[in-house]
Formats: sequence, C-alpha cells, structure tokens
Amino acid sequence: MQGKRILLGITGGIAAYKIAFLVRILKKLGAEVKCIMTPASCDFISPLVLATLSGNPVGIEFWNKKTGVWTNHVEYGLWADLFVVAPLTANSLAKMAHGECDNLVLATYLSMKSPVIVAPAMDLDMYAHPTTKRNIEQLKKDGVIIIPAENGELASGLEGEGRMAEPETIVLAIQNYFSTLSPTKSLAGKEILITAGPTYEALDPVRFIGNHSSGKMGLELAKKCLNLGGNVTLICGPINLDLKHKNLKVVSITTAVEMLDAVQLVWGKMDIGIFSAAVADYRPKNVVNEKIKKSEDNLVIELVKNPDVLAWAGSVKKESQILVGFALETNDMLANGESKLKRKNLDLIVMNNLSDKGAGFAGDTNKITLLDNHNNLTNFELKSKSEVAQDIVEYLINLKK
Ligand code: CTP
Repeated sequence: MQGKRILLGITGGIAAYKIAFLVRILKKLGAEVKCIMTPASCDFISPLVLATLSGNPVGIEFWNKKTGVWTNHVEYGLWADLFVVAPLTANSLAKMAHGECDNLVLATYLSMKSPVIVAPAMDLDMYAHPTTKRNIEQLKKDGVIIIPAENGELASGLEGEGRMAEPETIVLAIQNYFSTLSPTKSLAGKEILITAGPTYEALDPVRFIGNHSSGKMGLELAKKCLNLGGNVTLICGPINLDLKHKNLKVVSITTAVEMLDAVQLVWGKMDIGIFSAAVADYRPKNVVNEKIKKSEDNLVIELVKNPDVLAWAGSVKKESQILVGFALETNDMLANGESKLKRKNLDLIVMNNLSDKGAGFAGDTNKITLLDNHNNLTNFELKSKSEVAQDIVEYLINLKK
C-alpha cells in the first residue's frame, strides 16, 4: 500500500462516519489519500475530519463559490491509482449506473482513468430491490469492483443485508486489488491453513491453563494470504477475531486436542500450513466437573502432554506441501529453532526471542529470524506484525522446496 494514491468518494449515507477509520487505516499503511464528497455526505461526516485525517483538502463542489476557482475532476481521475466510493448510496449507485453527473463525485467517476471499487450501503429493502440489483450488475459490467454490503443492524432499526462492509474489509479489497497487479506474488487458488492464538486447557468449569498469545500474528498472516488471493482456513483458539472475508474459513477451538482434530480434518487438502498458535504443551490429567474448592495449603495438579499439532502435520507432510512453524524462545534461539525445524519436518521456521524488546506474544510488533530447510538464515528488524507477516509470506512464496 506504500505510496499508493487512493481517492475516496463519499456519498450521503450514515455509514459515511466510518470513512474516518478507513482513511486512518490507509494512511497507517502508507497510502496517500484524497477525499471527495457529495454535498449530502457532509451531513454525515464533516469535511474537516476527512481533510485532517487525510492531510489533503477535500473536494465537494465543482467550483469554490467564494474564490470562483474550479475543481478539476479530471485531475483527480489522473492522480488516483484507485478510486473507492464508500459508502455508495442507492441514489449515487443509480446515477453511476446511468452516467449522471450532477456532483463532483459522479463527474470524477466518469473521468476516472483508474479502477473503481465501491462499497454499497443502504436499507435492506433498497438493497434487495430489483432496481438496485440491476444497477449493481451494470456497474460490474462496466468493470467496477463491488464490495458487497454485509448483514447486520441497519440505521433504520431493521436487520438484514445492506450495511456497508467494515473499513477493514474495504482495506482488504484494496490490498487484494493491488496484489493482483503483481502476479509473481500471488497465492491465487492456494489453500492455506493457519493456526493462531492460545489454547485453553480446562482445570474445572471456571479455570484453565493458558497463555498470553493475542493471535495477532496469525491474523496478520491470514490477512496477507487473503490479500494475495489465497483461500485461508484459520484454526484459532480464544482470541478477538473481527476478520471477515469471502475466502476465509474460521474454525474456533479451545484446547490443543480440539486444534489437532480440526487440523487433521483439513491438512491433507492444504498447499501451505503456517502454525503460529501458542499451543499449551500440557493439560490437566483430570478435568474436575465442579469448581475446585480452596482447602489444602498446596494444590498439586497432574499434567499430561498435549499432542504436538505441528509435529503431526510435519509427519504426514506431502512433497508438495510447505510447512511453516514458529519458535518463541528465551535462550539459544538458533539452536532451538534449528532443532524444531528438523524434528517437526518443516520447510521454514520463524524464530523470535522473548528477550528482544518488542518481540513476542501480546504487542503489535515483532522481531523475527527466518531459517529455512536449506540452512538460509535471515534476520529482520523490529517491525509491526503486519509488516512481519508480509516478510514471512513473501519469503515462503519464493521458497524452493
Ligand atoms: N506447536 C503445536 N502443537 C504443540 C506445541 C507447539 O502445533 N502442542 C507448534 C507451534 O504452533 C509452533 C511450534 O510448534 O509453530 C513451536 O512451538 P513451541 O512452543 O515453541 O515449541 P515446542 O515444540 O512446544 O517446544 P518448547 O515449548 O519445548 O520450546
């Protein structure tokens, strides 16, 4: 996304307020952003907010009524690498489908040299109306990429299909578009299994043995693979998961044994496996059905070993499959990582050292070293988990078996 020029067109629906978040995410990812708005959309979000967040003036009228200066919509069309209209109301959709041109957003659409992505948003009956369906089909025929509206609570109080896709989903669609421009980095058609998050091993109905894994690394990896056109099966422990994508299948599990069962069901069909989960190595031998009461001064809990999910996948790995594991170490990182690579029959191991500042479980950054099965060792700087995911996915795409 770095340096990409994204023009956002905002039309007048309640979802317009979410565009502030979209602008922030795009800017954080390094994109240049300019906003143009229909006059109606200014009732839903202030141009000042968008000008401040994007760092660029916002275009609203064809010409400035005070200065008489004309806003050149053709220049917007030439500037942008991509034009994203979000939210796209039923009214603006109809106008786009018919080539109407009574505001700056529509005039820019007609002059646009770059691809156009739209995220419709309206009430469920409007979205379901045959006219709307026809207009969406017309836009598709005209080469516009549609991000379908989602199901959920609507401003009218009704519930159904019509909500604008969340900003994160719009960002994924944008990243997906840019990644398709570089076919050498494509994962199109590939099946990718990712394990993420912690496992919780129950002691009794209210307590468990777990760890501090946030699952962020796994989620970022899933996003990168989706952006590059892959189909992702994400098997994850208890984490905050707000990722939605048509090529994403999520399987939620709690324990290591459940994770193994879920992995065993799908691994045979996968091209790539990335095992980033922080699986608990042991679980209580006996799970007590009732809450353990406080009695003795010392409580001894017997633990038994959990199955090693990654080691199982490595033991049945086919020649064509690529398997990536993680090693979070506190000491002897290289030696431990190398031993895990061999022992678990991996193609690549992602190592990080908990003693490195900013590396590890819970934060937003990580500092990794990659070791592949040809003994190539690559050190990376401390980076955001999103950038780390990019490095890992790019490395494995270029990995020679
Ligand atoms: N892993 C797994 N199942 C387990 C334990 C680990 O799938 N029961 C996977 C992790 O997802 C990670 C890799 O194995 O990709 C290494 O995990 P780690 O906990 O570092 O290694 P262990 O083999 O458990 O060794 P140790 O805890 O002794 O360092």
